[in-house]
Amino acid sequence: MKDELLGKLDRESRPAATWIEPAHEPVLRAEPIGFLRSGKRSKFSLPHQPVGDADERNVVELLPGRQFEQALLDLQGFDRIWLVWWFHRHGNWKPQVLPPRGRKQKRGVFATRSPHRPNPIGITPVRLVRVEKRRLVVGEVDLVDGTPILDIKPYVPALDAFPESKAGWVDELERAQDDAPRFQVSVSALAEAQAAFLEDGWALDVLDRAARRLAVDPSPHRTRRIRRHGSEFLIACGAWRVFFTVAGRLVEVLRMAPGYPHAYLVDPKLTRIADRHAQIAFSARWPDPPTARRRKGRSAKSPPGSSADPARATTSSMGSAARASAGRTPRPSTEKPR
Ligand SMILES: C[S@@+](CC[C@H](N)C(=O)[O-])C[C@H]1O[C@@H](n2cnc3c(N)ncnc32)[C@H](O)[C@@H]1O
Repeated sequence: MKDELLGKLDRESRPAATWIEPAHEPVLRAEPIGFLRSGKRSKFSLPHQPVGDADERNVVELLPGRQFEQALLDLQGFDRIWLVWWFHRHGNWKPQVLPPRGRKQKRGVFATRSPHRPNPIGITPVRLVRVEKRRLVVGEVDLVDGTPILDIKPYVPALDAFPESKAGWVDELERAQDDAPRFQVSVSALAEAQAAFLEDGWALDVLDRAARRLAVDPSPHRTRRIRRHGSEFLIACGAWRVFFTVAGRLVEVLRMAPGYPHAYLVDPKLTRIADRHAQIAFSARWPDPPTARRRKGRSAKSPPGSSADPARATTSSMGSAARASAGRTPRPSTEKPR
């Protein structure tokens, strides 16, 4: 059997010096530690990644009698956890698959998140709501009811997130979407001062990048990294967060903030955090938590669900004048940088 398998491999293409034949065929053993419990039985009605209703609740139920209660100790306190799971309802694996988005073009399965993999293993960073003995209550999922769970790991942003990394054909797909500016972006005096601090001191063009993206579309979106933040919105730009409101076709950038909590920034073990020194210097200059500063100084402009909500804005309601005037326009503001 081993010879048969090896015979299928192209020995010529392997550098002889680096090929070591295993003495035994590796035996890999994995068994479920538990199962996902949710109302979602049809895999076709699921999102392609865990996005959707923030109030959604699902349960990962671990098997009894295996000391898993102890294995879950200390998981509370992590916002997200990785579920490593088995696509138990997939068909055959395929070397190339047709992704659900974009033009019809097949992609190598290893360049996708498709279920049709030789080892049908899925990974999903789900929100952890709470731990109840050997049950985990989690948020949105892209797993069907009954999916076998193989492992659980904590999601550690400083280790697991590389937001500036290139994403090959997925980036191309995003770029191919309509990227003409449609919103006018104005910038508060505070945000201008913060942008200047980052540009002059650290050669970081965070505000320019955020403004370009907001001029195209400020509506909440996972891959554009825009989400609601109370009555405001925020866009993640590399290791930074940029807070803004929207009124009609006008986006007002209010302020910026480091993306990492102070405890992470000053942890000597986490020296690889992007822009770490700039973030520490920024926090020293503007120490207040963004939400507190916002509540003290200014009133919200765009309550969620109002007509000013960018999630509700449509291209058809936009005039060509607005389209033509879209772009970053600094605007005087009464707010003073501190
Ligand atoms: C595109 S995959 C991504 C999975 C995972 N987040 C990943 O990146 O590895 C998600 C899709 O897998 C399908 N799916 C979910 N649970 C499954 C299961 N147990 N067996 C087979 N397919 C499943 C659903 O159609 C869902 O939309």
